[in-house]
Amino acid sequence: MASAAIAASSPTSYRYRGLQRAIHWAMALIIISALALGLYCSYLAPGTPLREFLLDIHKSLGMTALVLIVLRLPVRAVYGEPSWQKRPSLLVRAGAHGAHMLLYVLMILMPVTGYITSGASGHDLPWFGLFTWPNILPMDRDLSRLAGMIHHFGAYTFFAVLGLHLAAVAWHRLVKKDEVLSRML
Ligand code: HEM
Ligand code: HEM
Repeated sequence: MASAAIAASSPTSYRYRGLQRAIHWAMALIIISALALGLYCSYLAPGTPLREFLLDIHKSLGMTALVLIVLRLPVRAVYGEPSWQKRPSLLVRAGAHGAHMLLYVLMILMPVTGYITSGASGHDLPWFGLFTWPNILPMDRDLSRLAGMIHHFGAYTFFAVLGLHLAAVAWHRLVKKDEVLSRML
């Protein structure tokens, strides 16, 4: 009786919660745009107006990602992940968890090192021209350079892991034709 009541009040969910899906897709859009803009800016000569303008948008997107990841981690800890209708093998689940863990690490590392790169060299931390984030760092060129280097290598790791993530989703959808993509839709 009691277990039937619990089952009725909490039906098994095979999809991530609405809030988790909203944050996933918002962050996907923001991060892909930040990666593309950052890469493009790296080919522009320092100091040119176009680079300054695009870098300001890049920083604004990156700081938005930082706010969202602070929200996302507790949401993930509380909601966990949905059940499977047909559970993939242990190897596939372990691979997916490893890649997701790396994506979480990069989602923290990239905005934090970006903030340090700009903040410790005394550059602005704008947010879409509406306000500037407080800079809590002292001027420290060496720290800025070190953070910039981590940001640079982090970016290329991000491209690689994200490529793997997208290839895995495509493989599940097009070859395996399983439930993976629908869990996030
Ligand atoms: C268009 C691009 C994207 C598609 C189609 C996509 C698709 C998916 C799908 C289907 C899942 C669920 C996997 C499962 O059920 O095990 C997922 C999970 C996840 N995605 Fe994406 N994704 C995209 C972009 C991104 C981006 C840019 C990031 C940024 C880092 C990202 C980070 C994650 C993470 C961390 C998870 C694990 C969620 C969790 O269990 O907490 N995704 N994605
Ligand atoms: C999800 C967050 C972020 C991602 C994915 C990201 C990605 C990138 C990428 C791909 C580059 C080009 C890397 C290179 O070729 O060297 C870059 C450069 C840069 N990013 Fe970010 N970034 C993020 C957040 C931030 C934030 C929050 C800031 C500052 C507030 C920032 C500041 C910079 C700066 C100043 C550069 C230029 C470095 C240089 O060329 O000297 N980034 N970023």
